[in-house]
Amino acid sequence: MASSMAAATAVASSSYLSPSPVAAERPTTGGRVFFPGASVSSRSLRLPRAGARSPATRKPRSKGIVAALADPLKVMISGAPASGKGTQCELIKAKYGVVHISAGDLLRAEIAAGTENGKQAKEFMEKGQLVPDEIVVNMVKDRLLQPDAQENGWLLDGYPRSYSQAMALETLNIRPDIFLLLEVPDELLVERVVGRRLDPETGKIYHLKYSPPESEEIAARLTQRFDDTEEKVKLRLETYYNNVGSLLSTYDDVIVKVKGDVTVDEVFAEIDKLLDSSLAKKAEKVASA
Ligand code: AP5
Repeated sequence: MASSMAAATAVASSSYLSPSPVAAERPTTGGRVFFPGASVSSRSLRLPRAGARSPATRKPRSKGIVAALADPLKVMISGAPASGKGTQCELIKAKYGVVHISAGDLLRAEIAAGTENGKQAKEFMEKGQLVPDEIVVNMVKDRLLQPDAQENGWLLDGYPRSYSQAMALETLNIRPDIFLLLEVPDELLVERVVGRRLDPETGKIYHLKYSPPESEEIAARLTQRFDDTEEKVKLRLETYYNNVGSLLSTYDDVIVKVKGDVTVDEVFAEIDKLLDSSLAKKAEKVASA
């Protein structure tokens, strides 16, 4: 589609870096990853059990709920490092009840658990490169196919990131209803990365300037990611620009560009409209089937 090709061109021609090929090296060993499970939030789309209220008193279901029951929402979110994917995913998850699956978070969980896959992954993450498919593809696929994601819908954050990963999903006939592409100018991304802090207790994402911690107590326990340095974010950006074009061509029928250099609430307001509209379209299909 013309709009997505324009997006691809705009992204690929970004001037912050001079893109050069970054090939993901093959790992010496492959293997599947043990996924320790993830918490699920499904507040907004959870429905009363059958029989909880009599049919006479039950309110008519909204279009969104009807669609979510028959065919839950499936969302991919992409964008450069620190474009705000994780921040928006928290808000989307809270409102739409979809299962948030972040490839970066899954990899960091492997590192924290000290697994062999985690050790290998860290070497690539340190260099700002993509972790090889042998580690990532099964890890994400296994999570995606778990019952909670199938029942509540899913929100894939930072996956797929390359043509081969997109094709791995295509072969399983896994496609999103919408592919959100956050667009933020490069010069803002570096500032966002170096100022980012994480609360290890709540998982909340902060920024020293844009989203400072609410109290001294929280400030004292904040941590920084090992790849959140200016030097590493430039490598991550280079990897992003080398790969994003192939995603845009794979998902050109469902891509929507979202302006990411406004406030968190403004970005979410736009995303919220888009997701509501996606659900409404799904409801129309369900109703006419
Ligand atoms: P990953 O963890 O996914 O990192 P990333 O893509 O670089 O994205 P980030 O998590 O850095 O940023 P974000 O967009 O979530 O921004 P956030 O909301 O935190 O991946 C890390 C590594 O893992 C990769 O480099 C790679 O090695 C590996 N990997 C991951 N997926 C892989 C895959 N599929 N295949 C192979 N390897 C893979 O926001 C950033 C900051 O900005 C925060 O401080 C936040 O408070 C602030 N902020 C957010 N929104 C706004 C706003 N609107 N205004 C002002 N500040 C804002």
